[in-house]
Amino acid sequence: MTKEQAIELLESRGQGHVMRGFDNLSEAQKETFLAQIENINWSDFELIGSDSANARGEFAVPPAIELSEIEARKDEFEAAGLEAIKKGEVGAILLAGGMGTRLGFDLPKGCYNVGQTHDLYIFECLINNLLDVVKKADAFIPLYIMTSEKNDKATRDFFAEHDYFGYNSDFVKFFIQDMACAVDYDGKLLLEEEGRLATSPNGNGGWYASMLKAGLKSDIQARGVKWLNVFAVDNVLQRIADPLFIGATILGNYVSGSKVVRKVEPAEKMGLLCLEDGKPGIVEYYEMSKEMSEARAADGSLLYKYGVILNYLFSVEKLDEIVDNNMVVHVVEKKIPFIDADGNKVSPTEPNGYKFELLVLDMIHMMDNNLAFEVDRNYEFAPIKNLHGVDSVDSARELLEKNGIVL
Ligand code: UTP
Repeated sequence: MTKEQAIELLESRGQGHVMRGFDNLSEAQKETFLAQIENINWSDFELIGSDSANARGEFAVPPAIELSEIEARKDEFEAAGLEAIKKGEVGAILLAGGMGTRLGFDLPKGCYNVGQTHDLYIFECLINNLLDVVKKADAFIPLYIMTSEKNDKATRDFFAEHDYFGYNSDFVKFFIQDMACAVDYDGKLLLEEEGRLATSPNGNGGWYASMLKAGLKSDIQARGVKWLNVFAVDNVLQRIADPLFIGATILGNYVSGSKVVRKVEPAEKMGLLCLEDGKPGIVEYYEMSKEMSEARAADGSLLYKYGVILNYLFSVEKLDEIVDNNMVVHVVEKKIPFIDADGNKVSPTEPNGYKFELLVLDMIHMMDNNLAFEVDRNYEFAPIKNLHGVDSVDSARELLEKNGIVL
């Protein structure tokens, strides 16, 4: 794209302001900036202020396996899961491309030290959990780590400096997710600096497309991986490549599975796994009617009670089928650092605009079926979003100690 074409395009969209200072850029900077402009997804802008992404279908209770049944069929599930792992059919995807703004930590979130008397990093907790399964299966599990342009180098360096926390580095691959531009509340593009649009990672829903773009399909094929277990960086109690979960999903002939924890109070804020128009779907707490959140089953328990914890299992064959489908784009309010019209850097303390994100939960809705697999939140759910309070470093430390981890 030439400078003239960029000006014409931007002015036709009311975005001419971003070209200010263009002539002062180096040739390389001009080229990068024009490429950024060429790659803008203008259709995303039409979503601002519309609620089409929120139009939902009819909900019903999804198929599920609860704790008591898991306990009763433990050996059967475990044997099937371990067999798949031993054959190299299971890979794990660590979603670590997020900005972790709520934690307010400069390094990637996984580099946060939750230890108190010794170092214990979030990444290390996750690797330790994965190593438990590696030992049991006597086989390493391929681990693919999604980073973003903003934290890729710091993440790779951290793993290298810590010798992959004892993991076999031949089984670890990094890939970078796509970025998306950000706008202010009037839909005007924000600049990070002159000649550079403010961008941020495009959400956790583009992970498979980004993996393929990074050329990792050949690695998946060469290793014979048939299942991918996707999980968030911030749950330090996360059980990854859990043989029971994998076994139950395979034996039930499902193409995907979701680990869930039980919601007990109608007001609890969690995304719930449901059937939506007969297909698996996740409904956020703020999308749920009072009637739905309070509905009871015959035994008096909540009817919709399977809270998702961002730990999903997908069949690779199914992922290949859906990877080119259009995904819902979510318009999310965020704090976006930018430069103002006078060129001053501004780091807002309150949300000041919108980012456009794809979410992994929308991939669940593209699956033909999905198994809700219940886990006990006291053993498997300690998310770190904030420093203190709910879902924080403090609450995660408490849960780690309850699980016998010395901090
Ligand atoms: P969150 O929704 O907590 O977002 O991510 P975040 O960006 O990490 O944190 P805040 O909202 O700025 O505080 C849930 C999981 O999805 C990953 C995160 O790294 C985390 O594991 N994620 C999120 C990505 O990999 N890419 C993204 O673009 C967003």
